[in-house]
Amino acid sequence: MRFETKIGTSIEEAVHWLNEGELVGIPTETVYGLAGNGLRSEVISRIFEVKNRPFFDPLILHFSEIESVVPCIKKFPEDAQTLMSEFWPGPLTMVLPKSEKIPDLATAGTPNVAVRIPRHPMTLGLLQQLKFPLAAPSANPFSYVSPTTAQHVYDQLQGKIPYILDGGSAKIGMESTIVSFSREVPRIIRLGGISVEQIQSILPHAIVDVQFHPNETAESAGQAIKHYAPRCELIPLEDLDTAALEPHSSLVILRYSRNDSPKSSAKTYYLSENGDESEAAHHLFGMLRTFDELNIPRVYFEWAPHRGLGRAINDRLMRAQKKSS
Ligand code: TXA
Ligand code: MG
Repeated sequence: MRFETKIGTSIEEAVHWLNEGELVGIPTETVYGLAGNGLRSEVISRIFEVKNRPFFDPLILHFSEIESVVPCIKKFPEDAQTLMSEFWPGPLTMVLPKSEKIPDLATAGTPNVAVRIPRHPMTLGLLQQLKFPLAAPSANPFSYVSPTTAQHVYDQLQGKIPYILDGGSAKIGMESTIVSFSREVPRIIRLGGISVEQIQSILPHAIVDVQFHPNETAESAGQAIKHYAPRCELIPLEDLDTAALEPHSSLVILRYSRNDSPKSSAKTYYLSENGDESEAAHHLFGMLRTFDELNIPRVYFEWAPHRGLGRAINDRLMRAQKKSS
């Protein structure tokens, strides 16, 4: 089905389409989602189709309050409740044992479901008016960079969905952190908007279990090696011979902090002015898209300091840098 895709700020219109079983682009504080009724298999199936996403990669269900999460899960471990009270609404997704209510398609046949309460007033308002949670992966074609504005969603999904709810530029700009309770020990399986340090200050025994699997055997397909990748080739700056740096005016460099960077004749982009991690995270995906829009073939990037959100930034740079074989 083809649609005349509209961008707008009407929650009513979004409610209308979602109740009809259609998909809507929704804003969150992390990235934009491609949302549909998370309790209906045929709607979920359409999400996979529009996103061109393989069925083995499960979806996150979004809720507006804890009372509606409870019937969707079988168990709510104490550690999960602790994290929830600290970070919800916010960029935290938790993987918990699912109840029968959740279609197998949403969880890719696994016994666990990923749930989150996002922190965006528009989307919370939307969820409150719906009788079902929203299954919503990031609203990008599979393995491309996640969208952080309504326009990004439009650029890629135009014609495929009827409506995009415009909630402005995503504040955090980086996907949610995922903590899995599928085993005894809580595991951080995706780095994201809440830092490892923040999680471990609440749950010191939580471990980081982010691996770089090349295929679908990863618990989270977000861990697949090439993910979030723009078309342009990303190469770590340290792989560039610094002697060759000055004369090449066609060289494009992505630096972490404007004020801490050496002057150069190369065309240089900056993720932040003064090395602020949140600012850098907020700019990352938009910048990767800009490189593609400008048809820049190759960008040499600088790693972020490996702490806080810098770890999530480096994680995305690392994945973006790998070329599929
Ligand atoms: O910030 C976010 O989390 C955004 C916004 C829209 O909420 N959503 C997002 O969804 O990034 P997506 O589908 O692009 O990434 C979700 C990740 C995937 O890598 C998926 O494999 C993992 O969550 N995931 C979902 N359900 C899971 C499950 N049952 N077990 C393990 N991993 C799961
Ligand atoms: Mg995604």
